[in-house]
Amino acid sequence: MKGIVFTELLAMAEGVVGEAAVDEVLDELALASGGAYSRVGNYPCSELLAIVTALSGRTGLAAEDLQRRFGAWMHTRFTELYPDVFAAKDGPLDLLQSVETEVHVEVRKLYPDAELPRFETTWQGEGLRMRYVSPRPLVAFCEGMIHACGAHYGTPLRVGVARVSDGEAVFDVAVER
Ligand code: HEM
Repeated sequence: MKGIVFTELLAMAEGVVGEAAVDEVLDELALASGGAYSRVGNYPCSELLAIVTALSGRTGLAAEDLQRRFGAWMHTRFTELYPDVFAAKDGPLDLLQSVETEVHVEVRKLYPDAELPRFETTWQGEGLRMRYVSPRPLVAFCEGMIHACGAHYGTPLRVGVARVSDGEAVFDVAVER
């Protein structure tokens, strides 16, 4: 995974448990990377999962909740880093339906080594069905991103999650009425 994912996870974690506790977690885990991440480097997803598990142990928050929270955090960072991408879309469903065919396509051009999930996106009436498939167990992270996308546009979303495995789920996304 790209280093930016790790630097953002640690930034979020500092807000939750404080800088000293984050340093302790990284020391305890004795990660291959040493817990020193460069935004442009690549690191194994297993380190991300280990950090989330350790944070869960410290805070008592479920790892799933932390993943969801991190998904929302990451989405907010993307809106800050790439405002044009979001401004070009009418609302959350419009943006979400373009992740597979436009947004991540551009990401792949910029970072050919990015590890991205696959989405199969279809309209179901006025709602959007997103089948998420990834070798990485980030269903909850993805759910957090989807909710944050609604929040970004001021359009709360109803998100149904049918989990197939930790790396596969069907999200039924609709605008809350
Ligand atoms: C400007 C908008 C976006 C940018 C620049 C972006 C970029 C990226 C990048 C750089 C990664 C990490 C790749 C790696 O670690 O190698 C990633 C992963 C991911 N993105 Fe996006 N993304 C955007 C929007 C979204 C949105 C709106 C969703 C919502 C569904 C989404 C879903 C995901 C998921 C779930 C992952 C984790 C990787 C996995 O599950 O296998 N992304 N994205």
